[in-house]
Order: sequence, then C-alpha cells, then structure tokens
Amino acid sequence: MTLLEVFNKGITKLRNLTIIRLLLICSLLFSSVTETVEIDTGSAISIRNTSSAIASSIMAFYPPYKGIDAAIGVFPRPHYWWQAGAVWGAIIDYWAFVGDDRYNELISEALLSQTGPYNNYMPPAMFAELGNDDQAFWGFAVLEAAERKFPDPPSSGPQWLELGQAVFNTMAVEWDDATCSGGIRWQKFAFNNGYSYKNTVSNGGFFLIGARLARYTKNETYAEWATKTWDWTARVGLLDSNTYAVYDGLHIGNGNCDSFDYLQWTYNIGSYMAGAAYMYSFTTLPVWRERAQRLFEHIKQTFFFNGIMFEAACETVGTCSTDSRSFKAYLCRYLGMTADLVPELRAEIQALMQTNAAAVARSCVEGSNGLECGQKWTMQAFDGVTSLGECQCALEAVLNTVRFVDSNVGLPADVNTGTSQGNPGAGLSKGGEADWSMRNSTRGDRAFAWILTISVMACLSVSTWWVLSG
Ligand SMILES: *[C@@H]1O[C@H](CO)[C@@H](O)[C@H](O)[C@H]1NC(C)=O
Ligand SMILES: *[C@@H]1O[C@H](CO)[C@@H](O)[C@H](O)[C@H]1NC(C)=O
Repeated sequence: MTLLEVFNKGITKLRNLTIIRLLLICSLLFSSVTETVEIDTGSAISIRNTSSAIASSIMAFYPPYKGIDAAIGVFPRPHYWWQAGAVWGAIIDYWAFVGDDRYNELISEALLSQTGPYNNYMPPAMFAELGNDDQAFWGFAVLEAAERKFPDPPSSGPQWLELGQAVFNTMAVEWDDATCSGGIRWQKFAFNNGYSYKNTVSNGGFFLIGARLARYTKNETYAEWATKTWDWTARVGLLDSNTYAVYDGLHIGNGNCDSFDYLQWTYNIGSYMAGAAYMYSFTTLPVWRERAQRLFEHIKQTFFFNGIMFEAACETVGTCSTDSRSFKAYLCRYLGMTADLVPELRAEIQALMQTNAAAVARSCVEGSNGLECGQKWTMQAFDGVTSLGECQCALEAVLNTVRFVDSNVGLPADVNTGTSQGNPGAGLSKGGEADWSMRNSTRGDRAFAWILTISVMACLSVSTWWVLSG
C-alpha cells in the first residue's frame, strides 16, 4: 500500500463514523487529558496516598521489582548509575514519611550490592561513568538511611553511616589544590571526559555530605571540610557572593580556570542551601542561616513561577536530558531538609512547597502502574512528557510536604538518636589505594574500564527489552 492509499483508506474510515461516535472519542480523549489529580496539601492521608501511587510508577522502572532477573540496584538505560542512588534515597524517604515498607528489602539489597569491593560506592563495573557527583548520590542515600533510621544491615557487613563516611573519605582525597587553588574535579579518573572540569554538583555534594556527617557525628573535621568547600566555591565565583547564583562549573583549561559554564540548575544551588542548613543546625552560627536564606531567595527568583518550580535551564526550551529531567526532585528534597533545620525559613518553605505540590499533582494522570507525572508543573496539567525522572520529581515534591502536616516526621537523627554505626576510616583501608592507581591510568586500564562498562550496558539493554516486551 502506498502512503496515499493509507491516507485515503483512513479518510474513508473516518467518513463511516457517525458524528456521535466522533464526539464520544473526542470527549474520551479530552477527559483522559484533563483528569488529573487533586491533592489536599493539608491532609497527610491525601499526600501519602498520592506519594504511594507515584512511587508505584517509579518502581515499575526497576526490573527486579517486576520479577525480572537483571542487575541489582540499577535502573535500565538510558538512566545512568547515579540516578539509581538518587531513587533509593527518595524511596527511603518514602518509607520514612509514608510508613509503607513494601520496598524496604529491595532498598537494602540495592544499597548493599553497589558498594564495590572497598565498600565506598566505587564499583569497578561503573568506573567509566564514575564521577564524584555520581558517587555522592549514593552517599546521600546511605545518609538518608542513617538519618531516618532505616533498618540497619546485618552487623557482619558495612553500615549506613560507615558507607556515608567511606564516600566522604574517598571524595576528600580528590581535593585538588594543584589547579584552580582547590576544589574537586568532576571525574575521579583521568581517562574519563570531564576530568578537567570542576563542577558544583561534585563540590556541592561533598559540601552537603560533610555538613551532614558533621551534624550526625559531631566530629568537627567534617565541618572544617564543609567550610573549606563553601569558601572555595565562593572564592572562584561558582557561587556568586552578591546574587547567590550557583553556576554549573569551571573548566581548568590550560590552568587559568577562567572558563565557566554559567548554566544554573536546581540541584546545584539546592545542595549548597541544604548543606548550609545542616551547618546551621550543627554550629548554630548565624552566618550559615544567612547563607541558606540568601540561597533560598535566589531559588525563589530563578526556579519558581507563580509559586511553581521549573527547571529554568532546559524546561522552557524542551532540552532536558535524562539526567536533568530528575533534578527538581533533589531541590524538593533539599527544601524539605532546609525547612527542618532552619526554623526561620520553615513557614515560607511550607507555603511554597504546598502550592507547588498541588500543581505537581495536577500534572499527574493515572497510568498503567500508578500515577504518571508530566514535566512542566507550571502548566497545572499533564503535558505528556513522562519517564523515571519526572516521576522522581513529582514524588519528592509531594512527599516532602508530609513533614508540614504530620509532626511525627521529625528532624533527621544524629549520633545520639540514631542507630547506625560509623567508622571514620571507612573506604580507604583494605587496599582502597588500588582504586586510586586508576587515576593516572594507561590506555590498557581505560580499555578495561570501557569493556566493563559496555558489558554492563549490554546487560541493561537486554533487561530494558525484557521490561518493554514483558
Ligand atoms: C488515592 O489516590 C487515588 C489515585 O491514585 C485516587 O483515585 C483516590 O481517590 C485517592 N484516595 C484518597 C483517600 O485520597
Ligand atoms: C573525625 O573525622 C576524621 C576524618 O574522617 C577522622 O580522621 C577522625 O578520626 C574522626 N574523629 C573521631 C573522634 O571519630
């Protein structure tokens, strides 16, 4: 059949339909587009119910949850390894804020299967995509577990706090005074693209992990590192000391460090705001409260429209990548942390997040596995752009408002109230240096890392196919 024949056949079919049938189809299409979700942000039941339905959609992306024999702990391509760490952090919060433990075994299994041989979230299979930011997202997840008192793993193996310390330790050795007078590079390994870039998500991640460990353990060394990281970020101009804009990163170039990527992303500024909130909670120094407040002001100006969050750098122009489609999730998480730890900001964050959550719910529709949510919350309707990233954003936007209506959702735990065991030297001992030798590696190492990564990608592709075909 030629294209013209197909077209003509279609026209004939259409003619055969009565007006009534057409109207029926139109009304069905219309109702499926407009039937979005209304949430009552003053009701814990409504928030939890909506969170639960969105979490179901997220977990449907995870092959082992569907009984499919696939890689443990990671989500299929096109999602990178880091995003799985981000999802597990959110699902821990889901358990903590909603009280639904149906995913707990999967969470534990995932977190414990990706630690790598030295229990520091540097699995060799991921070396070709292992940046400091990627590792940090797994660090956030285990700190979430420690702070929310997620059930501790068997005492024979690594503990949540210990794993968080291992991530911190293996990031701290990345501190590089030789270029740009400090900071952490994006990539850990010289063979990866991006080794010559110092980005705020890696440094902000290290800052936030340091601040969280300081507050949890009361060990000043972490706070010193956090302060040093903040100071460096401001000194080189990645965090603008006048406007409090936070830019994406700095190219080392020929050593001048004068080439910036000025894009502003929700999750970069959010990690500095949350880190400042933790530092304020730990030190009670007004300077940290003021920093969190100034960043919050900039966040409101840059990433909210009529009280609704948007990803300014890509959403309006439709260029969001698989990665950036999930970034708003983290800003929502960071706003929740800041509301908990900076009492002076709590009321304002509450009002903003509740307005936002109502808009988020209107961007969701009933899907085959639960609620599926769109990308542009400012539309207050489902825009048809949905995948794992959008569902993560919606879950964290809604979930992080539970704390405002249920006082049982308290402050994150610390060494006095928590149960997780730490180990200050974690991650570096027992031959951890083997990983560092990769940093100045040869072509052979590089090829090896690529072979590992390609094998993993092949497995993930096969499992994706299984999910889609099953
Ligand atoms: C719970 O959410 C579903 C949508 O997933 C909705 O149909 C139902 O009415 C909600 N129930 C309550 C009590 O909010
Ligand atoms: C505090 O943290 C540092 C850095 O990890 C560590 O070297 C030191 O042993 C810790 N101190 C205590 C008392 O745990």
